[in-house]
Amino acid sequence: MKFLYRFVIFTLFVVSSFGDGDDDDVGYEVTNKTFPKGFLFGVATAAYQIEGGWDEDGKGEQIWDMWIHSNPKIVADGSTGDVASDSYHKYKEDVACMTEVGVHYYRFSIAWARILPNGRTNKVNKAGVDYYLNLLKELKANGIEAMVTLYHWDLPTALHDIGGWTNPEIVGLFAEYAQLCYELFGDYVKTWVTINEPKQICHGGYGGSGYAPGINSEGLGEYLCARYVLLAHAKAWHIYDTEFRSKQNGRITIVIDSDWFEPTTDSAEDKEAAETKIQFVFGMYANPVFIGDWPQVMIDRVADRSLKEGFDQTRLPPFSSEEVADIRGTYDFLAINHYTSYMVSAAAEPNIDNPSWVKDAGGNVYQKDTWQQAAIGWFRIVPWGIGKLLKWIKATYGDLEIVITENGVSDRNGTLEDDHRIRYLKLYMSHLLDAMYEDNINITGYTLWSIIDNFEWTQGFNGKLGIYYVNMSDPERPRVPKKSSKYYANVIKTLCLQDSCE
Ligand code: NOJ
Repeated sequence: MKFLYRFVIFTLFVVSSFGDGDDDDVGYEVTNKTFPKGFLFGVATAAYQIEGGWDEDGKGEQIWDMWIHSNPKIVADGSTGDVASDSYHKYKEDVACMTEVGVHYYRFSIAWARILPNGRTNKVNKAGVDYYLNLLKELKANGIEAMVTLYHWDLPTALHDIGGWTNPEIVGLFAEYAQLCYELFGDYVKTWVTINEPKQICHGGYGGSGYAPGINSEGLGEYLCARYVLLAHAKAWHIYDTEFRSKQNGRITIVIDSDWFEPTTDSAEDKEAAETKIQFVFGMYANPVFIGDWPQVMIDRVADRSLKEGFDQTRLPPFSSEEVADIRGTYDFLAINHYTSYMVSAAAEPNIDNPSWVKDAGGNVYQKDTWQQAAIGWFRIVPWGIGKLLKWIKATYGDLEIVITENGVSDRNGTLEDDHRIRYLKLYMSHLLDAMYEDNINITGYTLWSIIDNFEWTQGFNGKLGIYYVNMSDPERPRVPKKSSKYYANVIKTLCLQDSCE
């Protein structure tokens, strides 16, 4: 009884703490403008987070299998992605959820090691290929377009063993894998994403920020990774562009994630600190693709700090002019994942001791305590940040077509009455509409993360972001609609965020 009482109080606390609070959007009114006809709505997932079947039917091991199996304490609740949401067996149920919501497209990823168990094209796993073909056919039968990510963080362990994303060979190996995917699946795919969130791959995986493969090479390995990720993306883009585009009529791009970084004051110093930070976060990957080369502020700051640290050359591996030309322009539209924002104020130059990307960027970066928290230990909710980020993108890279390829909010208990999620989606989408109507930003699609609860990396099942609840202790993993799935369905149907629009 005592336990039940505590549980009820805890649940009330967790749920209600999303409900109100200062998110700096006080006084903001949700727009009653509508999305234009033809605007596309989707949902997203990634292979390791939903599939399970981690070693089934000939799938090879990938770095998250390896890393979590050998360090079980790394995941907050001790869970793994071994079974996850069991989409390897239940993909038809996932598609049924999507049909119920009425989405136009489904963004999912292919597990490299499921079709190429050792990462190389000499051994293709037919069962893995069939799995994705069946999923693609199921989507087609239900009138849902496929947006397919080739790499969502799950490098085959065999390729990690030879240096992973810090080995130049990875560029060619990724391109071979990409080419095979275009050949196998391209007839069903209208939109390809080469790589999802390079920041997390490189700084999470090689900069010691707590993602697989858990290499701690701050200020060095993380930059090598960025270099080869960008070259791999570019090579895969060119192969599609020259060999497949005319036959398959699809589009292809890279997905870059970014928070918004708001200067604490109007002072020139705070503005410069915030601009430097966003160049290190978004510009690091966007500048090479949309303008050419690393952002100048990165080139200058890393060179300067490297010399002071006693290196005889910059830790930021330069691109040759051929490489700059090769990477520049490798996009068909700008795809961005966005969840939260930070404040930035100018700060004393970080100490010259152990190098790191974070120190190279400098600045004092923080979130306001008054901003609502999503799941405990995760991000805070700052709806206006998405509008500011989009404006900054337009000012920096020009008037490009933009697709939001991820946006959503977590909680810990998977409540079906997820009013906090409805509020989040409504406010973020409202700022998106403002950006479209008031700032003339060309946004053509919005992708909600995620259709079902899944394995949220090192948060495990503590971070639930689905609009369908999945009970991870039930072997059947039934999908149960949350209130937010009805809300999103209504937005897609009416194009309106409120009960009715103008
Ligand atoms: C970004 C990642 O692409 C996805 O894998 C993750 O689950 C969501 N953000 C939420 O954290």
